[in-house]
Amino acid sequence: MTVTIVGSQLGDEGKGALVDLWGGDADIVVRYQGGDNAGHTVVEDGEEYKLSLVPSGAVRDKVGVLGNGCVINPRTLFSEIDDLRECGLDPDVRLAKRAHVIMPYHRRLDNIEEEAKADSDLTVGTTGRGIGPTYEDKAGRRGIRVGDLLDPDVLRQRLEYVVPQKQALIEDVYGLEAGEECDVEALVEEYTEIGRRLREDDMAVNCGDFLAERREAGDNVMFEGAQGTLIDIDHGSYPYVTSSNPTAGGAATGTGVGPTVVGQGEVVGIVKSYLSRVGEGPMPTELKDDDREEELADFIREKGGEFGTVTGRPRRIGWLDMPMLRHAARVSGFTGIAVNHLDVLAGLDEVKVGHAYELEGDERLTMPATTERWGECEPVLKEFDTWPEVDWAAVAEEGYDAIPDAAQDYLEYLSDELDVPIYAVGVGPGREQTVHIENPFDD
Ligand code: IMP
Repeated sequence: MTVTIVGSQLGDEGKGALVDLWGGDADIVVRYQGGDNAGHTVVEDGEEYKLSLVPSGAVRDKVGVLGNGCVINPRTLFSEIDDLRECGLDPDVRLAKRAHVIMPYHRRLDNIEEEAKADSDLTVGTTGRGIGPTYEDKAGRRGIRVGDLLDPDVLRQRLEYVVPQKQALIEDVYGLEAGEECDVEALVEEYTEIGRRLREDDMAVNCGDFLAERREAGDNVMFEGAQGTLIDIDHGSYPYVTSSNPTAGGAATGTGVGPTVVGQGEVVGIVKSYLSRVGEGPMPTELKDDDREEELADFIREKGGEFGTVTGRPRRIGWLDMPMLRHAARVSGFTGIAVNHLDVLAGLDEVKVGHAYELEGDERLTMPATTERWGECEPVLKEFDTWPEVDWAAVAEEGYDAIPDAAQDYLEYLSDELDVPIYAVGVGPGREQTVHIENPFDD
């Protein structure tokens, strides 16, 4: 059986906690897209692990796979693996040989391009990890793949072709000086050594075959989406997106299993009870119109710890956006949702959601396809009764009925609007601070 976890909003929905919780019933946890732009905080036995590349299941002794749809920075990978080992863990991580490698020149170009856009409204506010330039090279058929690191001759041939192009781009187009990121000999040396370590530790696999064999042997597989629907390259708010497909279709193309495999399993959308956004782009329900809204946003930001895991940047805050969630539920075909951070909204003077948008006098329940039109949408807000601060640890222990009535109304509205059941409700950052309703791995 498979369970696919998808971010329903703009990333940072608290996917890591659910992956970690349900991952207990998975044998393998597979990431299918993205790279070290993802920030997952996993709390285990009171210990907090901040991971950006290693699948969070690896904290719980699962096999962690980075699928062919991922872009992998080996420097980050090995530093995270080494850190986990220092904490006494022994993560088992496999890399798809078809996955692309983030090279030092990709990071440099990511930052150069953001800088070049800095004075325009085209700035994406990327994480600076080289994600976009690596996917560009993948689509441009000039990328370096994990499998290439295992063969020094192929690696050299590819680098000798691509590096002069990057050097020319940096020097002739941007008028900057190229540095060690364009030193072919140094790159061949470093990445051949990385290939040697991958081989020695038996980490590189044919991902599709590996998963097929494990599934045939009866293993449960969890596909762990990073980022979220609204920063999907196809279904997000282009161009303020990442360069991969966090939506459920990516779980098939990004790992080498068929869409029917993903579709026969559960697809669970992770929803944060409010909205946060790192980086640029429209956000119709953003709390920023006056001092009161800004104060409210500050309060939620502090209480919810809404600062980027990877970059430390403060996140923009808004009310839950239902047209966005309807879009997410359709694109990925959610079979259920988990709602996080319900505790953060406790004790507020008001709780609202953006039920619909108003655009040119019309009310609409779904999102427009262009970002410019989306930016023109005004939220049609629906107000809910507020709920008090309670002992959330006790609520997690007692179960759904212990959730304050007004908060239950909020959850039921969400479930009705999206026409899916709620499998879990997060009421605090730790795995144990979750109200369990149903485990998607249970038949
Ligand atoms: P990139 O993925 O670094 O290219 O960044 C592209 C856009 O996606 C930027 O707006 C980032 O802030 C956003 N982004 C990338 N990864 C994450 C994430 O894990 N959570 C939230 N936003 C992200």
